[in-house]
Amino acid sequence: MSNPPIYLDHAATTPVRAEVLEAMLPFFGPRFGNPSSMHRWGREARTALDEARERVARCLGASADEICFTSGGTEADNIAILGAWRALRKKGRTAVATSPIEHKAVLAAVHQAAHEGADERMLAVTRDGVVDVDAFRESVRDDTAIASVMWVNNEIGTVQPTRELAAHAKSVGALFHTDAVQAFGKIDIDVKSIPVDVLTISGHKIQAPKGVGAVFIRRGTAIEPLFHGGSQDRGRRPGTENVAFVVGFARAAELAVAEREEEWSRLESLRDALESAILARVPDAVIHGRGASKRAPHILNVSVPGTDSESMLMALDLRGIGCSAGSACQSGSVSPSHVLSAIGVSPELASAALRMSIGCLTTDECVARVAHVFPALVEKARGKTAAAAD
Ligand SMILES: Cc1ncc(COP(=O)(O)O)c(C=O)c1O
Repeated sequence: MSNPPIYLDHAATTPVRAEVLEAMLPFFGPRFGNPSSMHRWGREARTALDEARERVARCLGASADEICFTSGGTEADNIAILGAWRALRKKGRTAVATSPIEHKAVLAAVHQAAHEGADERMLAVTRDGVVDVDAFRESVRDDTAIASVMWVNNEIGTVQPTRELAAHAKSVGALFHTDAVQAFGKIDIDVKSIPVDVLTISGHKIQAPKGVGAVFIRRGTAIEPLFHGGSQDRGRRPGTENVAFVVGFARAAELAVAEREEEWSRLESLRDALESAILARVPDAVIHGRGASKRAPHILNVSVPGTDSESMLMALDLRGIGCSAGSACQSGSVSPSHVLSAIGVSPELASAALRMSIGCLTTDECVARVAHVFPALVEKARGKTAAAAD
């Protein structure tokens, strides 16, 4: 293949950036200590861990003691929802509310809470992929332990009205959790100015390694730990800390936050160029979530009638272009996306959906090439005279 491959799956994961790797390396070498040890090696690791906690906290407008490091977004979501539910059920708050467009980590944690006796409430979502604020106000009441709505949807990029939802939850005394995994590094997150109680982020979406994340737990919020067996992180998350990854995560977080605005504009113009090029050459293509008042710039989810995602993914892959059908966790499985189904996309269109997600590796040239190849592959898939794609 003469053209370099094009990675369009940044919402699934991103490469570790050089500065992050550099920050982590000493912790695989001489700085290998256990932060719980009293000797110099331990104290050195403890200092690095404490500093990383400070730095991640600063990126969110939080205090260091409000940050609990985890193995990633999935664990963080589980700690947030199950930890809050288990702490609050004793106080007579029996409902757990969430939206049907959440990541499976949230949906499965809510289902588990229901299994443990919670009254599970699914919130209404508009056809544009945004949680309906009025319906949220009706569903989230003084019997609700926790409401969980993601900040940015990982399949269609829609930005949720987090501020209004959090404010309502607070007004009825319910906790509000937001999965900010796809929002962090894209949207300005300041927990001092928005009344979220619990918020989750993940390292590998912002060029830190896979397997590290964090949950912000506002001071005073009752969360029962999911694991038992140690006093690390004040018992909220026992187990010897992954100092190297946490240090890398802190570096990645600082860089992502510092570059956030500029990167948003860059990605937005790349996304808009790709979207316009696709619509110009494939006018019946449907862009999911396009009607939302705000979309994160890194996700473009498109269905072309008369095609199917699996064949398109394979055809694109053969041309060196990597994207996904629905979310990464679902790629490899043929079932249509629960997000698209929840926003009323027909099964035919949902089974044609492709998620192209741009990021640090995406350039103007990548977009120009995809804009050139994609319509030709669509024609081919639809059985029309195959135009040369290369
Ligand atoms: C919105 C959202 N939440 C949670 C996760 C899970 O994060 P992790 O892969 O770090 O467990 C992802 C990853 O795809 C995501 O996009």
